[in-house]
This record gives sequence, structure tokens and C-alpha cells, in this order.
Amino acid sequence: MSDFSHGGQIYQFAREQNTPIADALAHILDFSASINPIQPDVDWQAIIRHAQIAVQHYPDSQQQVLKEAIGHRFQLPLEQITLTNGISSAIISLFNELKPDTTLLFTPIYSEYRRAAKRYSDNTIEVIHGFEEGLSESLLQQIHGLTENSVAVLVNPNTPQGHYQSPEALEPLLELLRHKNCWVLVDESFLPFIGFSEHYSVRRQLKHHPKMVILQSLTKYYACPGIRIGALFTAAHALDKMTWPSWPLSVLDEQFVLQALTDPRHEGNTRDFLQTERPRFITALSTCDLIESVEDSMTNFVLVRTRIKAYRLVECLASTNILIRDCENFGLGQYTCRIAIQSTENNHQLVQALHQNRWLMTTEPLLSESK
Ligand SMILES: Cc1ncc(COP(=O)(O)O)c(C=O)c1O
Repeated sequence: MSDFSHGGQIYQFAREQNTPIADALAHILDFSASINPIQPDVDWQAIIRHAQIAVQHYPDSQQQVLKEAIGHRFQLPLEQITLTNGISSAIISLFNELKPDTTLLFTPIYSEYRRAAKRYSDNTIEVIHGFEEGLSESLLQQIHGLTENSVAVLVNPNTPQGHYQSPEALEPLLELLRHKNCWVLVDESFLPFIGFSEHYSVRRQLKHHPKMVILQSLTKYYACPGIRIGALFTAAHALDKMTWPSWPLSVLDEQFVLQALTDPRHEGNTRDFLQTERPRFITALSTCDLIESVEDSMTNFVLVRTRIKAYRLVECLASTNILIRDCENFGLGQYTCRIAIQSTENNHQLVQALHQNRWLMTTEPLLSESK
């Protein structure tokens, strides 16, 4: 596993197995990417009808209608929104623009931040995401050393644990970073699973923090990673001086997301489903001998501690066409995996597969023996 590899590698997996892609997309159960199991209700016929005409023209370079819809959903005016073809690409663009002196990463963290920092930043400091217990002396020292051209990055709710910090809990850290006048990237890609109200988000602080960027992927919540769309939220016009690609989104992306954003039932359906399925799935996973423990989460994925080495469990489940995410490259050791919460039926299949593979406990070194 490389330092920066991701979940959601279904195409690569299909190639390795010599499985036709169409079969893989239809039959492989991919728990390794944390995608909403609830699909928004979109009218594909209408999307295609629009695209058949619109494809002959460049998309709107101002993305006015889509920005209005996103602004409405996230309670922000247009001038505070920049759209990109996915947050992964925005991360690289931002780091390429900023070329930070120092990057301070609160870990564990989405690996694209580590990849971008390694490529574009002179110096990277990783600190364990522990500021909820107050700002430690060593963290204060790290922050003290940041220049105005440094970047601090935190993901909230974070991955792979799904831990969430309220804006009030983050306030002392963000205030300190604001005083340092360095750039602050707050990735809230999984926040819609908690709620859209600005009460949950640091969006309200954007007005006072001209160097803060909120990175909001839309591919997780709207279950569309095959469509590349993400939004950056900032103080008005804060990113205008940076160079952005002229037409980051296609007319198909635009139409899909417009419809997804205006599905009136998506939010309620997602919340109701996860409220029931998450505790049920956590309980079912906890009954599996191969699982040592399951962390509770506020999002659409859970972190599990495994009794055998995670890579062996990943391999074994992959041989039955089930993908889960080994978390070793998050720096979490050899016995952790992230598992997305999917439909009840898929979750049941995973739990069955874990029970069926309990024989691995007799052939593999166990976590208890590694202590
Ligand atoms: C915290 C976080 N931010 C952003 C992304 C990427 O989002 P996108 O699909 O918009 O590139 C991921 C993907 O796993 C993620 O975990």
C-alpha cells in the first residue's frame, strides 16, 4: 500500500481481477469509499435532454445557477463560493498556488493533503488531532512557528474516525491561527451528514478570517464521486487572485448536482436511514470475531479495530468481491479499517462474509499476540 493510496479503487480492482468494468460496477460491494448509501432522486431523462443541447456549448464560466443553488443550500452568497472539479483537485490547486513555507496537518488526515504538502510545501508538521482536550504546549509552539505563508489543515468531521468538533470547540485554535495570519483549510466534506445548519459549521467565521478556506466536497453526500464537484467557501472574493481552470465543471456535472441539491427528500432520507442503520450495523459488526472493536461515528462510515492484520482481512474480503479500507497509511497501525455504511442488505452481506471468514483467526497472528 502506498503512503497516499485511497479507498474507492474499484476500476483498479476490476483490472487486477480481469473482471469487465460493467460487472465490477454492478456487483462489487465497495465499502472502502465513504459514499452516501442514499441516492438523491434525479431525473436522468431531463439531465440527458438538457445535455444533448448544452453539450454543443461551453458551460457557464460564472456557474451562476449552480452557485446560487449551492449558496442557498449552505447559506452563503455567490461571492463566497468557488467551484472546482472535486475537492481532491482543489487541494492540489491550492497548495500549488500557496506553496506554503510550512504545512501543519492535524492527523489522521485525508491523504491528498499529505501528498500536496509533500510536493509543494517546504516543511510539513503532523500533529495528532487532539486539540479537543485544549491546546497543548507543543501545539502552541508549532503554531507560534508558522509564517504568514504557512497553511494549517484540519478535517471536520475527520476521517477515518468520523469525530466531529463544534465551531465553539474549534474557536480557540482558529482564533490563534487567525492571529498568525496564516492560511487555514477546514475540510467539512462530511459535515452534511451531521447537518447543513451553519450552527454546525465554521462558515460563520469566514467573514472575519480572510485566509480561511472551507473545502466542501459534494461527492460524498450526494453519492456522486463519478461526477467531480466540490465547493470552496471563503470570505467574499478571497480566492479571486488565484488562477483557477476556466470551466472546471461539465454541463452534465452541473445538471446532476442542480437536481441533487433540490431533491427535497434527500436530507431527511439520509438522516432517517443513518439514524437507524448506523447503530444496527455497529452492533452487527461488533458480533464478528474478526472485529476487536467498532468506534462510534457521527458520519456515514465507521473505524474498526481488527483482530488480524488489516491487510489480510482486506485481501480475504476482496477475494469475495467486498472492498474495505485498510487504514495503515493514515498512520493508525496495522489493525484498523474504515468501513462505509451502505444499504442494509449490503451491510448484512459484509457481516455474513466476516462471520464466514472467522477461520482466519486460526491461521493469522492475532492483535492480542502483538501487544
Ligand atoms: C476529507 C475528504 N475530503 C475530500 C475528499 C475528496 O473529495 P472529492 O470527491 O470531492 O475529491 C475526501 C475523499 O475521500 C475526503 O475524505
